[in-house]
Amino acid sequence: MQRPLATLAAALLIAGASWAAPAAAANIELGRAKAEQACAACHGKDGNTPVDPSYPKLAGQYRDFLERALLDYRSEARKNAIMVAQAKQLSRADISNLAAYYASLPGSLSVRR
Ligand code: HEC
Repeated sequence: MQRPLATLAAALLIAGASWAAPAAAANIELGRAKAEQACAACHGKDGNTPVDPSYPKLAGQYRDFLERALLDYRSEARKNAIMVAQAKQLSRADISNLAAYYASLPGSLSVRR
């Protein structure tokens, strides 16, 4: 009687693992290309050297945070004239890719463990 239960538990675990996978896989290379074209002028080529000290560093920030920020600029839930205009040009896929790209860069904001 134990075995069918164990098999069921294993099947549920495997199914659970696939549900936990992100809905859309982001493409870091596409994110890099978009970033060089659209974002580097202000945020720096490495995401760490913005042209103005008041512009935020993006490198190494959490992916969900970056994604949330871009979605909020795009919907104007977060207001900033410069970034709302930038985010309106981005597709949903661009936003995932850009967030994954900047999150993958070494950041100077915090120590990574
Ligand atoms: C013309 C300059 C400029 C360009 C181009 C630009 N940004 Fe920004 N970005 C800013 C400024 C200024 C802020 C700070 C806005 C604020 O205070 O909310 C900012 C903020 C952000 C933030 C929020 C970061 C945080 O820590 O809260 C993200 C994410 C971001 N930009 C991503 C991008 C991406 C991705 C691109 C390219 C598609 C881009 N930006 C292009 C100037 C720019």
